[in-house]
Amino acid sequence: MLRERDDFVSGAGMSRALHISRSAVWKHIVALRGAGFVVEAIPSRGYRLRSAPDLLLPSEVQRGLTTAFVGRDIHHHETIDSTNREALRLADQGAAEGTTVIAEEQTAGRGRLGRVWFSPPRVNLYASVILRPALPMAQAAQVVLVGAVAAARAIGSLYDGPPGTPPRIKWPNDILIGGRKVSGTLVETASEGELLRHLVLGIGINVNLAEKDIPEEIRGIATSLATACGHPVSRVELARRLFGEIEAAYLRFRQEGFKRLASEYASLSDLWGRPVRVSLTRGSLEGIAEGLEPDGALRLRLPSGSAERILAGDVQLLR
Ligand code: BTN
Repeated sequence: MLRERDDFVSGAGMSRALHISRSAVWKHIVALRGAGFVVEAIPSRGYRLRSAPDLLLPSEVQRGLTTAFVGRDIHHHETIDSTNREALRLADQGAAEGTTVIAEEQTAGRGRLGRVWFSPPRVNLYASVILRPALPMAQAAQVVLVGAVAAARAIGSLYDGPPGTPPRIKWPNDILIGGRKVSGTLVETASEGELLRHLVLGIGINVNLAEKDIPEEIRGIATSLATACGHPVSRVELARRLFGEIEAAYLRFRQEGFKRLASEYASLSDLWGRPVRVSLTRGSLEGIAEGLEPDGALRLRLPSGSAERILAGDVQLLR
């Protein structure tokens, strides 16, 4: 009600409309203030919302969210070890498809290949969505592309920096702006024999992270959306768009199959035909990034002329 009326709303009016007591109204106001909302109170006039915090609170993210299931049930944490870990736990307990875990901070954010994902408080987006596609385990990797397409589209929709450097996907799931990483995706699965039981699509986006706060080890290779745009970006709006894009890409994938998703992915990436070095657990390979295999693997054309299927590795552009 405070949001809808950009003016004072009387305590008595809220109490009547919501069928709660005046003291219950007051308790909610206290709770809102505790969460960082600035609510003015004047005895003769009532309450007025002066500002809302840029926190990823479910009530904020869900305002204007148009999805049917992604982000409809949001578990928000001020701090947590890893949203992926929590989402896997909820999925195990039977949480519905689309259930989403969001955190303001992660103390043990997980990256690909056993790395750590830098997750400082209240500046970035850390979210994990539970999905339950009916797929054999062998095809689970295809869903990984959903995350990349969704993140690239959501970030691209808010990007207003130099037009020559739009956000692009670097296989498998990194989103780069001007060659620096702004986002990564980690998909974790649970299986039942040959079948996929559920999976968790975890996406981290550097949103308002300041250049000076980027740890030394990743300075130069990482950036944030705010740095790229030259101004702060609303994390709430980005979360809304991300959930919308995840649901849309996932439904397209379920209805139209991998080919459609793969071609969308291909058009959001500028890797194709370019020379790359791929670091693998067992050394590295150089060649031309040619395209995607039907399971989402990267096809690398080696100087010998033969093609290599890369399932996991780090890609570095050579020129
Ligand atoms: C990468 O290495 O590029 C993948 C990074 C994935 C990070 C996200 S943040 C939300 C979710 N929770 C995690 O612990 N990891 C993913």
